[in-house]
Amino acid sequence: MSHKVTLIPGDGIGPEVSAAAREAVDATGVKIEWEVAELNPDIMAKTGQSLPPHVIESLERTGAGLKGPVTTPIAGGYTSVNVALRKRLDLYANVRPVRSLPGLVTRFSDVKIDMVIFRENTEDLYSGLEHEVVRDVVTSLKVITRTASIRIAEAAFSFAHELGRKKVTAIHKANIMKLADGLFLRCCREVAARFPHIEYKELIVDNASMQLVIRPEQFDILLLPNLYGDIVSDLAAGLVGGLGVVPGANLGERHAVFEAVHGSAPDIAGQGIANPTAMMLSAAMMLVHLKEQSAANRLRSAVEGVYAEQRHLTKDVGGKAGTREFTDGVIAALKARVSSI
Ligand code: NAI
Repeated sequence: MSHKVTLIPGDGIGPEVSAAAREAVDATGVKIEWEVAELNPDIMAKTGQSLPPHVIESLERTGAGLKGPVTTPIAGGYTSVNVALRKRLDLYANVRPVRSLPGLVTRFSDVKIDMVIFRENTEDLYSGLEHEVVRDVVTSLKVITRTASIRIAEAAFSFAHELGRKKVTAIHKANIMKLADGLFLRCCREVAARFPHIEYKELIVDNASMQLVIRPEQFDILLLPNLYGDIVSDLAAGLVGGLGVVPGANLGERHAVFEAVHGSAPDIAGQGIANPTAMMLSAAMMLVHLKEQSAANRLRSAVEGVYAEQRHLTKDVGGKAGTREFTDGVIAALKARVSSI
């Protein structure tokens, strides 16, 4: 059976890492019809739209996307295409597994880190509702709703239940934002009560950040509103080797878009040195979504095998290889596995 998938290369290092991930997926033997949809600042300038219709049309057709990062201008310019896409397709759950890789030396290699971040993906301070009240006075609206908070909490607890995970930690700042984060917490508690076999904890986001650095192994599932989820994801990535290695999924009821936590990394774009691990592991999550569990497992173990061997690692994780060598290493490991089956 073949699957249709929208491939969005993005810009910066996006085309390099998404090409690598595509090759790795193809090497698993799963048949994918890739529909390539360009989405980058040039296309946005040409079409004059922050979310060009061809991207949405393709995702409506395929239901699944593998997406490279897209640059967002800072302090002005068009609104984030990434946020727009998540809102437009109602991709409400941003799921980011943060795991130690075998053999990868980091400041935390002596502990096993295995946490999954569930970040609400459609509201909070990403509402884009900003307003200059009078000159030099600006408000930015933090929107928290019961609907969005309940469904991200349900996603986190259902995942924990299905995968036999033990604990969910909700992260908040309800001591200060009593109404907004207070509502988020009430929804988390309400859902937690339906899963009494899963331990439920709450931490204030500043303390949570410190705990993550001091004792990351204590965390299992993290449940956060949008902004804290964004920041804590990068912090957590730093614990396991950096942004080059952490994958993600944006999940909705009808669509799923898989993408790395990292951005377009303009500082290293076009140099052939970007680490494609995060995109490849995002592609493995996509294979699970497509019910190609065995191919997903093989892709994951091929990536882990390259780390365990420490031969084809990229510069960001202490190696000397480029994107090409790393990709060849993963493909060789995949082929070796296929021939040994
Ligand atoms: P970034 O994640 O692009 O880069 C941060 C640092 O990590 C840089 O030093 C970069 O070289 C390094 N890095 C990131 N991914 C890497 C990889 N695969 N291999 C090796 N090194 C890697 O974050 P930054 O610089 O803050 O953002 C750049 C642009 O990306 C911005 O326009 C931002 O809005 C956009 N962005 C897009 C996202 C998306 O499309 N989902 C997510 C995050 C940022």
